[in-house]
Amino acid sequence: LTHGGAEPRRARSAAGGAGPAAGAGPPGGRGPAVDGAERGAGDAMVAEEPPAPPALPGLRLVQQGAEAHVYRGLFLGRAAVAKLRVPKRYRHPALEERLSRRRMAQEARSLLRCRRAGIPAPVVYFVDYVTNSIYLEDIVDSITVQDHIYSVQKSGTDTSDLHKLAEKMGELLARMHDEDIIHGDLTTANLLLRPPTEKLDLVLIDFGLSFISGLPEDKGVDLYVLEKAFISTHPDTEAMFQALLKTYAATSKKSGPVIKKLDEVRLRGRKRSMIG
Ligand SMILES: Nc1ncnc2c1ncn2[C@@H]1O[C@H](COP(=O)(O)OP(=O)(O)OP(=O)(O)O)[C@@H](O)[C@H]1O
Ligand SMILES: [Mg+2]
Repeated sequence: LTHGGAEPRRARSAAGGAGPAAGAGPPGGRGPAVDGAERGAGDAMVAEEPPAPPALPGLRLVQQGAEAHVYRGLFLGRAAVAKLRVPKRYRHPALEERLSRRRMAQEARSLLRCRRAGIPAPVVYFVDYVTNSIYLEDIVDSITVQDHIYSVQKSGTDTSDLHKLAEKMGELLARMHDEDIIHGDLTTANLLLRPPTEKLDLVLIDFGLSFISGLPEDKGVDLYVLEKAFISTHPDTEAMFQALLKTYAATSKKSGPVIKKLDEVRLRGRKRSMIG
């Protein structure tokens, strides 16, 4: 099945506890990579040079993704995560710099917009335009919805919890879309659950691809991306996405045209896959 640009980014591996020593590394770090040309294009997709770690006390690398490295530590005494973009060597340094900056700015902007509207998202502590890194409130002891679904499924306990969770997700996304915030990378890995998980206390994260739009089409595509992510990461959860959509439709004041667009986008995806 092909679905053009709407495919969500792949889930990435976690790397626990492998961070450098506390306080290591200068706060400024390195500038944009300038030695990319020496390497040739052969290794374009592999082995990006990791960004210099931020100077956070008790620093620990928690997630080493293809797009970003996430560190955990203290920022002015508060539990914080620092997100640093990983430069892509196959991109021209100037383009890379622009992209990183734009994504970071978008992330900060949308997080603030969420917070202002009362939509649960991490507090923004600091935006560093020199290193293109962003310091956020650490949602302490949270787990991703993705991991939560896996663990509920594995435990074989009653999946009615998952139904409720899906409803909560639909409600949250409806509120976000009613603020004209398009997430841009909706997956179950970009939604956190605060402890204790039974409270179904959701927090939205990872707004680097987000933008502001009131267009039903943009909202429909946002939901489509999530639907695709659901199908690929949780193959046995059709009922969950159905419950999510139902609550979305009931919560959002503007859901009619959005669901219509979602249907259109689905159809387009199917046609494209038939043509090949
Ligand atoms: N504010 C936060 N509090 C707690 N954990 C967080 C926070 N932000 C990010 N994380 C953890 O780090 C992971 C990656 O963060 P995020 O989704 O923002 O980056 P990403 O660009 O998707 O990185 P990747 O390239 O790994 O996908 C999340 O799935 C989550 O486990
Ligand atoms: Mg993510």
